[in-house]
Amino acid sequence: MTLSPSEIALQVSDLEVSFVDSDGSLEVLDKISFSIARNAFVCIVGPSGGGKSTLLRAVAGLIQPKGGKVLFPGGSEGKALTGLVFQKPNLLPWRTLRDNISLPLEIDHRPDAEISSLTQEMIHLVGLEGFEKAYPHDLSGGMAQRVAIARCLVQDPEILLLDEPFGQLDALTRERMGDELLRIWNERRKTVLMVTHSISEAIFLADRVLVLTCRPARLIMDLPITLPRPRTDAMRYLPEFIEAARLLHEQLKGSNLPVC
Ligand SMILES: Nc1ncnc2c1ncn2[C@@H]1O[C@H](COP(=O)(O)OP(=O)(O)O)[C@@H](O)[C@H]1O
Ligand SMILES: [Mg+2]
Repeated sequence: MTLSPSEIALQVSDLEVSFVDSDGSLEVLDKISFSIARNAFVCIVGPSGGGKSTLLRAVAGLIQPKGGKVLFPGGSEGKALTGLVFQKPNLLPWRTLRDNISLPLEIDHRPDAEISSLTQEMIHLVGLEGFEKAYPHDLSGGMAQRVAIARCLVQDPEILLLDEPFGQLDALTRERMGDELLRIWNERRKTVLMVTHSISEAIFLADRVLVLTCRPARLIMDLPITLPRPRTDAMRYLPEFIEAARLLHEQLKGSNLPVC
């Protein structure tokens, strides 16, 4: 299926990133190319240390690539606001839950009334009503990560970049957060690019799963996941789900182990 430029949220072409340190140059991304349709949910899997976080940071504009391009053809004037969520929620311990979520709007000098209504809307969206005045140390891991997602969404980014956002959560909380994320994505209709090390999480959430190799990372697989939506737990046992898991597992093993 060919997409017109207005339907493409993100286009990465021949992206090359390397870091220079005292030992010389470390090649991290090797001519990575892919496009993501607007409102699609795409997951990236790959070995640890391979360059997945580097790819997200390059898409967010935090790293200057050595070669290639990151384009937002469907964004206004070819630009798009990206929001990045990390594995650690990185909340400010001295601010309440509410004040952590409102922080980007305060930095942006938005009017008080707007800050208040947008923040309350996000608290409702991530299901944290009643906890507005709680401090980060009183929150569970899952709640803290919801706050991090809300703090990102309050800026209304067009593209949500998630870097192993549930990596520190226990298995059941992680599944619940996956369900929540799909609900939020469905309500807000964002384009999502998410790194995860869980093959089953990637299949459950995504429209497509991209597989990266060890460093320097190359894209070796772009697997469409055609399971219908809404996704349900029962789908985890369907032959299609299991076959996708087998294919991804084979690619990851072939790409050289889980650690680079
Ligand atoms: N700012 C940096 N300077 C130097 N090396 C870096 C920097 N960021 C990442 N790296 C190196 O790049 C490689 C890929 O890192 P990363 O993108 O974090 O991998 P992943 O997220 O897949 O685990 C690693 O070897 C890491 O040490
Ligand atoms: Mg990483």
